[in-house]
Amino acid sequence: MWLSLGIVFSLGMLIPGKLSLKLQYDRDQVLHIVPETFQQVQHLQLLHSTLLLDLWKPLMPEDITAGEDLHIRVPAPLVQEVKDSLDQHMISYRVLIPDVQELADLSMPRERSSHKQVREGYVYTQYHPMEEIYEWMTQIQENYSELVTQNFLGMTFENRPMYYLQISQPSNKPKKIIWMDCGIHAREWISPAFCQWFVKEILQNYKSDPKIRRFLQHLDLYVLPVLNIDGYIYSWKTDRLWRKNRSPYMNGTCYGTDLNRNFNSSWGSIGVSFDCSSNVFCGSEPESEPETRAVAEFIRRKKSDIACFLTIHSYGQLILSPYGSTTKPPSNNEELMQVGKKAAAALTGKYGTSYKVGPPSLILYNNSGSSRDWAHMIGIPLSYTFELRDNGTYGFLLPADQIQPTCEETMLAVTTIMDYVYQEYLPGGAVVLTCSSLALSLCLSIVLTWTVY
Ligand SMILES: *[C@@H]1O[C@H](CO)[C@@H](O)[C@H](O)[C@H]1NC(C)=O
Ligand SMILES: *[C@@H]1O[C@H](CO)[C@@H](O)[C@H](O)[C@H]1NC(C)=O
Ligand SMILES: *[C@@H]1O[C@H](CO)[C@@H](O)[C@H](O)[C@H]1NC(C)=O
Ligand SMILES: *[C@@H]1O[C@H](CO)[C@@H](O)[C@H](O)[C@H]1NC(C)=O
Ligand SMILES: *[C@@H]1O[C@H](CO)[C@@H](O)[C@H](O)[C@H]1NC(C)=O
Repeated sequence: MWLSLGIVFSLGMLIPGKLSLKLQYDRDQVLHIVPETFQQVQHLQLLHSTLLLDLWKPLMPEDITAGEDLHIRVPAPLVQEVKDSLDQHMISYRVLIPDVQELADLSMPRERSSHKQVREGYVYTQYHPMEEIYEWMTQIQENYSELVTQNFLGMTFENRPMYYLQISQPSNKPKKIIWMDCGIHAREWISPAFCQWFVKEILQNYKSDPKIRRFLQHLDLYVLPVLNIDGYIYSWKTDRLWRKNRSPYMNGTCYGTDLNRNFNSSWGSIGVSFDCSSNVFCGSEPESEPETRAVAEFIRRKKSDIACFLTIHSYGQLILSPYGSTTKPPSNNEELMQVGKKAAAALTGKYGTSYKVGPPSLILYNNSGSSRDWAHMIGIPLSYTFELRDNGTYGFLLPADQIQPTCEETMLAVTTIMDYVYQEYLPGGAVVLTCSSLALSLCLSIVLTWTVY
């Protein structure tokens, strides 16, 4: 009997292509529920724990709240049972995603773009697997060698190199750094797509767009396109809904730490789990993971030059400021809110996408150990998490045809923040010397006054 089991298993491993060991989510559904009473909240928590359902929003059952959105994935064999139970308890629900696998298949590029295609013109409106992103980074550095260097940051748990792109104009003026990382959570594919879009926009336009040219005279952009490379690859090859990195715990009985719970900011205190099978497992100690350590060591070294730390996620349409748990608000809370709101307004101006701005403890759920909180704690004044599209209609499975509008609108938010850094954070009065936007009206009015008289 053991022998035949062994044979079946090894045959299973041999089936090529789509049927390999990739997890399938055929006819799994994502339901949208807004519980109305505490009793309903309790029933949903019970359903979640007895049937092992997969919470998408919030991530932890204790954060289910009356009056707040709940998005939950129900495996196909349990869909009817769950719906019956909801009906019995008079909890109304709406099916957000009728077939998770169908949607997951849609976000895959229709034809795998070959390496040749990468060379002939990178397609920014598709999601790309990691090997293509590696090649893209090499290409970008070659094509824009006057401006871009690809720098080594560290190794992932599975021994893959992490690189960030440094966009920097040679200059002996003092400069400030804007840091942006994407893909800390594997399944949030729109995030790496945005980092690539951002780099493309800056590089394609810096010669013709005076605003970008001005930025680059005083700001260096450091972009880490995929932070959690092992997890990202795993989400392409094995489990589309994987979130964490891939380090083993408990002798390999469970895998992965939530890297955005692994930073040294109130680590392990709230909104985390110490169970390594949880999606919000915070690791064995702060910076226990090589990916976290690589980022943290680098940021610590550069912190006095970094004016702004941005980390890009999905989904929820939020700009989150520090802090994730209700310790006292940051000393520059007013500034953080004002700049965040201005960025959100610029974003909304493009396609009307609505965003909320504020700390997670007020507009999402409490959490600890995030990179955003940590970056602010060590002294970086502006620190935000972006939760990109959407609001749950497609959730983690945002179709590729939304890459372009999402990136276009997000670009406006990010450049609004860059503009603020440019105006407020440059050392040595660079602003006045270059007559930037703020000073421009003043310069103009002087010129005009002269002309009139
Ligand atoms: C690099 O330049 C080549 C030649 O102009 C172009 O075909 C290719 O698309 C560029 N690659 C990227 C990633 O921009
Ligand atoms: C892991 O395995 C080793 C050797 O088999 C054992 O001594 C150890 O207790 C195990 N650790 C855990 C956390 O299960
Ligand atoms: C985390 O921060 C505390 C102080 O807040 C410090 O004592 C500790 O060494 C830090 N740990 C790491 C891994 O940096
Ligand atoms: C976060 O925790 C604080 C204090 O325990 C609580 O008042 C607040 O409602 C919590 N926020 C959320 C979004 O649950
Ligand atoms: C998301 O927003 C759209 C448009 O604003 C709305 O129609 C839809 O119901 C919202 N979906 C959820 C899950 O809130």
